[in-house]
Amino acid sequence: MKKWQNDIFANKMAENMLNFYQEVLMDHYRNPRNNGIIDQCDFRAEQRNSSCGDEVLCTGTIENDIIAQVFFKGKGCVISQATASLLSEYVQNKSLEEVLALDKDNLIAMIGMQLGPVRLLCSLLSLAALQGGIREYKKKQST
Ligand code: FES
Repeated sequence: MKKWQNDIFANKMAENMLNFYQEVLMDHYRNPRNNGIIDQCDFRAEQRNSSCGDEVLCTGTIENDIIAQVFFKGKGCVISQATASLLSEYVQNKSLEEVLALDKDNLIAMIGMQLGPVRLLCSLLSLAALQGGIREYKKKQST
């Protein structure tokens, strides 16, 4: 294969991957997993994006320092709500330390595409709520 053919092939592959990730995101936005509020929860935390007013409430249960279940409830853009849905599935059965170590790079890998600074804040909303809730839980356990 010539270089120009390779380039076309690589571009087509990248386009297909992007379309795939966009479809996954839209599916999580339209059909959010683990959506709602856990009444008998071990932690509960809210996070608000001050620039747009979007917000997310995170509730979760913990068993032996492992995330048993995480639910999100909120309103916001596709990225913020789809990330909450993806995250709720990803963190199930992860240790508290593993979840606290998650950062923007993990979210970008989960979403499957690069995000500009504004969209990055959207995606960080649910992670901030989740990590805030876990920190509060740990603080209560240690007192
Ligand atoms: Fe508000 Fe994305 S525009 S969180």
